Amino acid sequence: MKETILRTEGLTHHYSIGDRKITILDSVSLSVKSGEFVVISGSSGSGKTTLLTLLSGLDKPSKGEIWLAGQEISRLSENALTPIRNDLIGFVFQAFHLIPSLNALENIMFPAELKKDRLAKPKAEELLERVGLWERRSSMPQQLSGGEKQRVAICRALINNPRLVFADEPTGNLDSENSFSIINLLSALREEHDTTLLMASHSSEVAQSATRILKLHDGRLTGEHTGLS
Ligand SMILES: Nc1ncnc2c1ncn2[C@@H]1O[C@H](COP(=O)(O)OP(=O)(O)O)[C@@H](O)[C@H]1O
Ligand SMILES: [Mg+2]
Repeated sequence: MKETILRTEGLTHHYSIGDRKITILDSVSLSVKSGEFVVISGSSGSGKTTLLTLLSGLDKPSKGEIWLAGQEISRLSENALTPIRNDLIGFVFQAFHLIPSLNALENIMFPAELKKDRLAKPKAEELLERVGLWERRSSMPQQLSGGEKQRVAICRALINNPRLVFADEPTGNLDSENSFSIINLLSALREEHDTTLLMASHSSEVAQSATRILKLHDGRLTGEHTGLS
């Protein structure tokens, strides 16, 4: 039986607009086991990004608990949280968020260099080769296509070998052919590296690759079903 790597209990989040309090997430309780590929589906505005932001400790919930690798993180200070986040989590974003002044290889190396990993370069080179971008290693982000940028971003998310990868609409800026290959790549890398993948997407096509689908509607989990793979 695989261990539970991530769990929430009654996760609730409000935003205040003027004197109005708006509930964005409402009592979300979920549990993810190591190695799963979970897609959080739901239309735009349903709370997917907010949920990933809270799960990764980038913002504090109004109420509820978040357990990450056995530790309750929702009340930890930023100082306590940063090393946990750096060790456990990799991120992939819709807008890629590559550093424009660094080339493909340097972008991938960056998180490993922050940790003073002496193997940053060979690890980055191996990942680049794995995703078929060896020839593009010296290219700057603006010289890369959307699909290539996202492959670089995926390598960067994986270089510190995180146990969890959060991906927020990673194919949102890509055409359908590139989307398909990015999802296949993430799915394959997840198996190779035995990582857990939590992906927000409003595309039902993307959800078909998941091992499990969680449905968000107006900030509530409304359903769950097992994916096809
Ligand atoms: N900083 C914020 N302040 C106020 N409302 C916000 C903020 N961020 C998101 N929201 C609102 O929260 C709801 C959910 O947003 P979001 O989590 O981005 O959903 P999704 O990623 O599913 O599109 C939306 O109605 C959005 O307008
Ligand atoms: Mg979003």
